[in-house]
Amino acid sequence: MPDATTEAQAQALPAERAERPTQGEKPLVRLEDVKVHFPIRRGLFARGVVKAVDGVSLQLARGETVALVGESGSGKTTLGRASLRLIEPTAGRVLFDGRDITHVPEARLKWFRRRAQAVFQDPYSSLNGTMTIEQIVEEPLIIHGVGTREERRARVLEALEAVRLRPPEEFLKKFPHQLSGGQRQRAAIARALVLDPEYVVADEPVSMVDASSRAEILLVLKERQEAAGTAILYITHDIATARHFAHRVGVMYLGHLVELGPSERVIENPLHPYTQALIAAVPEPDPTNRLRERPVIPGEPPSPAHTPKGCPFHPRCPKAMKGTCDVEGRTPQLKEHEPGHWVACYLY
Ligand SMILES: Nc1ncnc2c1ncn2[C@@H]1O[C@H](COP(=O)(O)OP(=O)(O)O)[C@@H](O)[C@H]1O
Ligand SMILES: [Mg+2]
Repeated sequence: MPDATTEAQAQALPAERAERPTQGEKPLVRLEDVKVHFPIRRGLFARGVVKAVDGVSLQLARGETVALVGESGSGKTTLGRASLRLIEPTAGRVLFDGRDITHVPEARLKWFRRRAQAVFQDPYSSLNGTMTIEQIVEEPLIIHGVGTREERRARVLEALEAVRLRPPEEFLKKFPHQLSGGQRQRAAIARALVLDPEYVVADEPVSMVDASSRAEILLVLKERQEAAGTAILYITHDIATARHFAHRVGVMYLGHLVELGPSERVIENPLHPYTQALIAAVPEPDPTNRLRERPVIPGEPPSPAHTPKGCPFHPRCPKAMKGTCDVEGRTPQLKEHEPGHWVACYLY
């Protein structure tokens, strides 16, 4: 396999990279200085770029849940999609289980497709409405040639049971439109989990379902993560659920990871002024009712097409220092402030 690096190669990185935020010896998912830039086209010509993700390094250990938080447009979805190679990064590297998949063509990613899955935000558009729940959940098994008909049926029932679509036999012949939003999202999760993936990206999995279903959906994912040792990248704009759901929290702002650390530390001792503002904007500690509300941070809403010079947050930052935070060509880099807790801010 010419384009797959070995574990040894993946470990033999320059010292400067080895000092980037790490968790465990052999990460399952490893993003190294990943950039995703989209050209802005008006008419025939490209007019600049949107720096959706602009140099993010992040690793997930087996069995680890990392929450990515940040306002809409900060690059969370793009980073999640790059980690699944649904988008090919502009620069940097994506490694899975030690193998470099950054530029591997889709035709040679089947092994990876079997081991990594996605749950998207919208359960209304993510399920094929002409297929039954059984067909929807069975399809990945067929695509990957798993099991006999009988074995597949057993695995589908098991997956439906795991997401609490009970009794599972009753859901097999139903169509998506016969399910509630919460049930559909659980069917989407059953489809994602039926292959026993090692890595799941859950992109705002509860933001479009009714409040009463949210806790159960997160619980189903958490149970699965604990039982099967799945690594989960949980993308959310809601920092309150991140604490209960994730081992670590990463905070994104305009394509940059500005803070990363153990969930309790990031929430109890937020270091970056942006994280502090996000937490201050959480209205009441009642996550089940507040998920639809976006945090409100004062100042101009950011645009990744016009990234400020210097620290991307400085135009909105109450603690910005003139001559430090606004210097062109200088972006603060992540530094380890306390064990495992990293922040990219000149205050530290
Ligand atoms: N395919 C695309 N083409 C152009 N711009 C895009 C594309 N996908 C995302 N973007 C832009 O990249 C930025 C980050 O988007 P996204 O990753 O969806 O952020 P988030 O998930 O944090 O809301 C946004 O400004 C968005 O408009
Ligand atoms: Mg998104």
